[in-house]
Amino acid sequence: MPSLYCFVALGITLTQALAAAYTNPKDYAQMPVPRQSPLPSESVQQGLGPSLSKNASIFGPDDSRWPDATERYQDFAVPQVQVVVQPGVEDDIPTIVKYANEHGINFFVVNRGHSLTSTVGRFNGIQIDVRSLTDISINKDAMTAKLQAGARNYETIDVLWKEGYVTTTGSCSCVGMVGPALGGGHGVQQGVHGLIADNLIGLNVVLANGTAITVSETSYPDLWWAMRGAGHNFGIVTSFDMKIYPVTVPSYYYRNYVFTGKHVEPLFEELNKFHANGSLSPTWGGAFGVYTMEPSVSTTEATIFWTFIYGGSKEDAAADLSSFDALGPVAVDEGDVPFTSISDILISGLESDLCAPSKVHITGTAGLQVYNVTVQRQLYDLYNKKVSKEPLLSGTKLVHEGYAVEGVLRGKPEGSAFPLRDDNLLMYFDAMPPPNSGLEDFAFQWARETEDLWNAGEGEWRKPTTYVNYAAGHESLESMYGYEPWRLEKLRALKAQYDPLNKFAYYNPIVPLES
Ligand SMILES: Cc1cc2nc3c(=O)[nH]c(=O)nc-3n(C[C@H](O)[C@H](O)[C@H](O)COP(=O)(O)OP(=O)(O)OC[C@H]3O[C@@H](n4cnc5c(N)ncnc54)[C@H](O)[C@@H]3O)c2cc1C
Ligand SMILES: *[C@@H]1O[C@H](CO)[C@@H](O)[C@H](O)[C@H]1NC(C)=O
Ligand SMILES: *[C@@H]1O[C@H](CO)[C@@H](O)[C@H](O)[C@H]1NC(C)=O
Ligand SMILES: *[C@@H]1O[C@H](CO)[C@@H](O)[C@H](O)[C@H]1NC(C)=O
Ligand SMILES: *[C@@H]1O[C@H](CO)[C@@H](O)[C@H](O)[C@H]1NC(C)=O
Repeated sequence: MPSLYCFVALGITLTQALAAAYTNPKDYAQMPVPRQSPLPSESVQQGLGPSLSKNASIFGPDDSRWPDATERYQDFAVPQVQVVVQPGVEDDIPTIVKYANEHGINFFVVNRGHSLTSTVGRFNGIQIDVRSLTDISINKDAMTAKLQAGARNYETIDVLWKEGYVTTTGSCSCVGMVGPALGGGHGVQQGVHGLIADNLIGLNVVLANGTAITVSETSYPDLWWAMRGAGHNFGIVTSFDMKIYPVTVPSYYYRNYVFTGKHVEPLFEELNKFHANGSLSPTWGGAFGVYTMEPSVSTTEATIFWTFIYGGSKEDAAADLSSFDALGPVAVDEGDVPFTSISDILISGLESDLCAPSKVHITGTAGLQVYNVTVQRQLYDLYNKKVSKEPLLSGTKLVHEGYAVEGVLRGKPEGSAFPLRDDNLLMYFDAMPPPNSGLEDFAFQWARETEDLWNAGEGEWRKPTTYVNYAAGHESLESMYGYEPWRLEKLRALKAQYDPLNKFAYYNPIVPLES
């Protein structure tokens, strides 16, 4: 099968007026980048270097390490980095922040560089690159792990597994842990254990003014609330503690199906029964699918791939899958894998296409409760129409993530800044216009039409929702941070208290930058 998943497939007063003006991510990306005077790396080396630990590095575009340090997943709207600073130890981070503040330099933390949103394109200044802070240590007595800011999904899963533990992570090997966690963090363990954010115990954080604090239920509880859902807006996490769990599922059964256009209606009817509006048993990791072109199946119509992941044996999974077998798929494939290999099943391993850096991704997203079968047909027909018009976009993926949600629903909605606990299904659109194809506008239009269909299918009573880590950059603050007025009021008040100068203004900002 081709590389498809990972998503799984595989997330103050001016605010509202500005948010409304961002009709499309391109507009935001084309807004002026805040002024930052030219920043020679030599002057940062001289001014900051002596205050940092031995292993820290400071370099500019002439350095051989530059291409690796500034490589990003999403090439659509890239931050304008003038100097990279790599801390050698966590304690370097407050020093870097204080130096930047004293010299009027913008700073921005980058870990694995997978942010999708165009809002990061408005950054200009020093990139604090935390990728070298990769310690992961396990405390077996406390059943916790301490992870440094640079921890990545791949190593986290691997290191814990070797010691007999698992925890909540994202599904894609190449993505960081902190980025997803601060916005919630969806993954295969969530049916059992909830979001990544639900499993945090404490965060070591450097605030906008360079002060280092610990954020937990008992220390800065207001920030503890905010950083689990809107965390990118409040500080730099240098390390964090999270819960871990003994391995109880030695092996997962997976079953992959290949369907075609004639299956759309019966497939989504069966999927709605399977997910039962958020009631799927957490023994299931979930069911994940994609519409994309697969020429070996059809050159004119999208092929529909679906993967089911079960924390148990084929025999135990069989009853729930029989109705999908009965649909008459074009192909079926199956196997058993340990938790560490699920990203390969979701075709999101380190070497997968899905992890391939440096491409323009025009994206869209929506959170749903159930599939609207009529809309799924409209989306399928729209897909075929768009690709027939612009065949260069045949790599476009409409990704459907249906994790089990029992663990997520256990979390109290008001208990954190994550507002989307009643989104059962996570939709993601990804078109990759080839360089110089001139197809970006066409792809934007398609992405917006797709989002509109998803949202219309939910019925009037549900407002559009946006998982903050999947946002493209044009979405409303309410759709990301919650419609209940108290949520944004509380977040804005905390911004005024902890980040009055809006230093953390680049990742789907609660207080958008002025134009
Ligand atoms: C291929 C792919 C697969 C994905 N799979 C999943 C998934 O399975 N589950 C899921 O929930 N999401 C998933 N996402 C979305 C993911 O949560 C976001 O893209 C996330 O921001 C990526 O984090 P990063 O470290 O890789 O990227 P970065 O760009 O390095 O970080 C993203 C943002 O997080 C902030 N940040 C990073 N490090 C810190 C820190 N130490 N302290 C404070 N802020 C920080 C910064 O604002 C930064 O802009 C996926 C994205 C991609 C592109
Ligand atoms: C500095 O880096 C070297 C080489 O990567 C490593 O062996 C050493 O442990 C590091 N020192 C500290 C204090 O982190
Ligand atoms: C799904 O469940 C929610 C409550 O969790 C309910 O409000 C909604 O009406 C249900 N939707 C359908 C289609 O049954
Ligand atoms: C499904 O979507 C269609 C088209 O937007 C809409 O008319 C219909 O009411 C939706 N069905 C349900 C059950 O919400
Ligand atoms: C930094 O900000 C925090 C939170 O607003 C505040 O408590 C602290 O006193 C500030 N530190 C300095 C040195 O100003």
